Amino acid sequence: MNEAIKNIKMRRSVRFFEQKKIEKEILQEIIEAGNLAPTGMNAQPWRFVVVESSEFKEKLAKLALPKYKQWLEKMSAEFKEMRKEIDLKVKDPAHYDAPAVIFVIGKGMTRDLDCPMVCQNIMLAARSMGIGSCWVFIGQLVLDNPEIRKEFDLQEDEKVFGPIVLGYPKEGFPEMPLKKEPSVKWL
Ligand SMILES: Cc1cc2nc3c(=O)[nH]c(=O)nc-3n(C[C@H](O)[C@H](O)[C@H](O)COP(=O)(O)O)c2cc1C
Repeated sequence: MNEAIKNIKMRRSVRFFEQKKIEKEILQEIIEAGNLAPTGMNAQPWRFVVVESSEFKEKLAKLALPKYKQWLEKMSAEFKEMRKEIDLKVKDPAHYDAPAVIFVIGKGMTRDLDCPMVCQNIMLAARSMGIGSCWVFIGQLVLDNPEIRKEFDLQEDEKVFGPIVLGYPKEGFPEMPLKKEPSVKWL
């Protein structure tokens, strides 16, 4: 199996992280990989906000927790049960206490198609360097806060993808969850 396929197969969503900073050069390489994603008309309509500072992560955690609880309230009993185990282990269940959180911010006509590919490149590049990642949609729960919007310079015509949490896995890379066989019609 070639290295690229192996890396795709080995990528897993990681939710528990060592409290160890990711080296700057590695983060830059991961962002560069995101930045090289294909893009409609080569528009490259994205920018990145990377959160690493403990104070800022503390702020995210404080804002996320009550919103996460409200959100969880609406979910099924089965989902709530599943989250219990995770929630016991982290302070911020929306950003998983990750050493780095990358918000991919897009605008323009092609952003909905382009930006998820940026996110995928980020997650695959991270995996290739032994770094775990997870796209956390619930990490967006903080984005209606004016202070956060100001810090991110978030404009009305911009949309956030991810965020992607990143860090060295505390419990290794999890087992692959059940994946369906591809549904393919060959013509
Ligand atoms: C668009 C999107 C949103 C996601 N949001 C969350 C999330 O909010 N919290 C979380 O723990 N995982 C989230 N995930 C990760 C998925 O749960 C995960 O990809 C899925 O269970 C398959 O596992 P795998 O990534 O290890 O293959 C998200 C993934 C995607 C693609």
